[in-house]
Formats: sequence, C-alpha cells, structure tokens
Amino acid sequence: MNYSHSYHAGNFADVFKHAILVSLIEALQRKESGFCYIDTHAGAGLYDLSSDTAQKSKEYKSGISLLLDQSCHDNIMTYVNCVKKANPESELRYYPGSPYIAHSLLRAQDRMVLSELHPSVYQTIKERFAHDKRVSTHRLDAYQSLKAFLPPKERRGLILIDPPYEQQNEFSHLINTLPLALKRFATGVYAIWYPIKDRPPIERFYQELKKLIEQPMLIAELCIYPESSAQHLNGCGMLIINPPWQLDKQINGYLPQLWSTLSQKAWGQQRLFALT
Ligand SMILES: C[S@@+](CC[C@H](N)C(=O)[O-])C[C@H]1O[C@@H](n2cnc3c(N)ncnc32)[C@H](O)[C@@H]1O
Repeated sequence: MNYSHSYHAGNFADVFKHAILVSLIEALQRKESGFCYIDTHAGAGLYDLSSDTAQKSKEYKSGISLLLDQSCHDNIMTYVNCVKKANPESELRYYPGSPYIAHSLLRAQDRMVLSELHPSVYQTIKERFAHDKRVSTHRLDAYQSLKAFLPPKERRGLILIDPPYEQQNEFSHLINTLPLALKRFATGVYAIWYPIKDRPPIERFYQELKKLIEQPMLIAELCIYPESSAQHLNGCGMLIINPPWQLDKQINGYLPQLWSTLSQKAWGQQRLFALT
C-alpha cells in the first residue's frame, strides 16, 4: 500500500467528491430517522496542507483554493462552510477528508462506520474519533467491511467507496463486489468515486454496471483536462446507486460552476446523467 492521500488532499477530485458527499448527507437528513454512514476507505480525516507531502504536489492550489476564492452557489455552501470551519484562523491550512466532513454533519441519531487498512492512517482516524460513541473505526479491508457492516441496523445508509485505484483491477473488483453489497442492502445509497483518465475503460465500466445493477443509478463527471493521456488524472466521476430524490437538481446547481472554476483552460466537461 503505497498510496497516501495527503499528496492529493483538497485537489479538484476531492472538491467534487466531497461536495457530492455533503449533498447526499443533506438528502438523507431530510428525514428525522437516523442513518448509518459507512466509509470503506476512510483515510486520515484531516490533512495539514502545510505538510511536506501536501507541499510537494500543491494539488489543493488548483482545487479547494480556487473555490474558496469565489462566491459559490447556495447548494454547495454547506461543503464550503465545512472547509472554512476546519480553518478557524481563516487562512486555508487544513483540508477535511470524507470522515471529518461527515462527522461535522452527523446528528445525535446518526452513526458512522469507518474502515481503513493502512496501519498508521488507521491509528490517526481511530484517535481522531475515539471520543464519539456514534463512530466506530476498523482496520479492515474495504470489501470485507461491506460484508461485515451491511445491512446497517437502521436500514438507512450511505456507503462511500473511495479506493486509491493503485491496482489495475480496481474497476473489476467493484463490478464483482457491488452486486453482492446490493444483495445484502438493496435500498442503501452507494456513492463510488472513480478516476477518469481515458474514456474506453469508463465506458466498459458503465456497460457492466447496466448489465449487473437494477437499482437506479446517477453518474456525475467532472473532467478538467482533455482525455488524451491514459497516465494522467484528467477527471473523475461519482456513481450514485439509489440516488435520493432531487439529488440531480441539487448537484446541477453547482456542477457547472465547479467545472468553470476548476477546469484548466476550459478543457474537459461536466456531465450529470442517469445510467439506464
Ligand atoms: C482515496 S483515499 C481515501 C480518502 C477519503 N475517502 C477522503 O475522501 O477523505 C484511499 C484510502 O484507502 C486506504 N486503503 C487502500 N486500500 C484499502 C483497502 N483495501 N481497504 C481499506 N482501506 C484501504 C488508503 O490507505 C487510503 O487512506
């Protein structure tokens, strides 16, 4: 396991992923009854952008820094405020990861289950939330955690699957695992982040999903470079299975702005569509 998210914290892909994560949590919280947030690849939770790793790549400069410099659409303000709250000194120094963001929105009746395989990252996340009984943290493989924690007892859940895609076969892994997860918890809301480098593997992924999954699926894509090099992170996507009511409307409110703010030289595109 060589991947370290601290190089990438706050980059355009994090902004896209976390804005949608917040929209999903807000949608689930329209109902009073509690839900369970399951984060299969939790990461460290909070990233110091002044660290050597973050400073080496400075990816946040073409991500969250650009967004904070503008006035934003109302639908994205909860996410923006969450980043601002992580930086009480007002200057951008910390970037909140998915468990930190979800935790900041958690109500008394909600719960969080985090899995992280890397030993020291696991230790960090475990200590970060040790004080809170609503949070349980596990050093467990992501795909094992789906077996272990689905279905949640609340029967209402949001599952974020955010792998590092270090392994060539991560897409096939997802294709094999998602139907099994859905068999355990058919009504769960699943959000799966994926990188977009060149188009053919993404199209194959979509075709496979259509064959295997009968639940409604929504796809959001944000591409900020031309899809010309298979080695480069040109964009990313989020697959949402069982999207909550009006999630598409919510995301449509800010996705065009995200693209115009984050796109390099107006390259790439943003798209939101139902996968049918
Ligand atoms: C992309 S990062 C997660 C970022 C986090 N979800 C966020 O948005 O802030 C992927 C994380 O998954 C962890 N990881 C890698 N393989 C894993 C596995 N098989 N099971 C659980 N965690 C894994 C890595 O150590 C890394 O911290």
